[in-house]
Amino acid sequence: MSGLQYRGRPGAPLLTLDTDELAREYERISTTRQFEYGKQLAADLAIRPGERVLDVGVGTGMLAHHLAELVGPSGRVHGLDPLPSRVHLALDKARNRGNLSFEVSDVYDLEHLRDQSYDVICLNSVFHWLPDKTVPLLTFWRLLRPAGRIGISCMAKGPRMVVQETVASVLSEPPFDRYPRERDTMTFKIDSEEMRALFEMTGFSPDLIETRPIEQNYATPEQAVRFMEASSFGNFLGHLPTELVYRARVTILRRLATIVTEQGIVQQRGRLVAVAHRR
Ligand SMILES: C[S@@+](CC[C@H](N)C(=O)[O-])C[C@H]1O[C@@H](n2cnc3c(N)ncnc32)[C@H](O)[C@@H]1O
Repeated sequence: MSGLQYRGRPGAPLLTLDTDELAREYERISTTRQFEYGKQLAADLAIRPGERVLDVGVGTGMLAHHLAELVGPSGRVHGLDPLPSRVHLALDKARNRGNLSFEVSDVYDLEHLRDQSYDVICLNSVFHWLPDKTVPLLTFWRLLRPAGRIGISCMAKGPRMVVQETVASVLSEPPFDRYPRERDTMTFKIDSEEMRALFEMTGFSPDLIETRPIEQNYATPEQAVRFMEASSFGNFLGHLPTELVYRARVTILRRLATIVTEQGIVQQRGRLVAVAHRR
């Protein structure tokens, strides 16, 4: 069975809604929080010069560049992502780096990559987008050398935050309620215990699993909506018919305006950070 079938689960994010504009927007807004999470993950993984690193769900490649600096000229970093617009941006920036490469690929379809060809695999802000986690982890086990490390940093399972509550409330009203999502959330978040069980089941020994408190801060409603659009590669309102998208966006912006404080829109969340090595 092709691994791609796992992506066809009810409510799985569509990989056909991304645009060049969303990719550029993601590149712009991910320089702060997402990139910082990625650098912290690289530090938790203690990536060393000379290592071979696979960056899964590499996006526009910002973290991959940082990883390429860490591994130096004797190491290499390969980034893969199913969204061509994002990989194009990553490729544009990588022209002068001999130790950095990218490809358009889906984590559920990595048969072409050789067994034990990586020392480290990392996924920054990607794992919560994967409907099935077991198949990717088994694939990572195959791709890593014995004792090779995997690092995951993603949104942790937890109660819905104020921005998500507000969006859900708008989408539950007419006329948007005529087009419900297949699931009540776009992502497939897990908690520490589920992460531990997944590692155990797929041949990894955990070195670090924790949920770190983080603060999400949006200066304006527009900023919050743009972040959700770009980081979800168009899935945020992608379940609605085109003629309702603009109307939903405007309604959400108006509703979010009612919860802006002097600090903007601030919400506390949990970030799941996990590092393990191949048994
Ligand atoms: C929020 S972005 C994170 C990008 C990047 N890792 C970073 O740190 O900025 C989520 C990424 O996960 C990727 N993704 C989603 N589903 C995927 C899949 N099935 N296989 C590989 N990557 C996937 C998306 O294409 C997107 O680029």
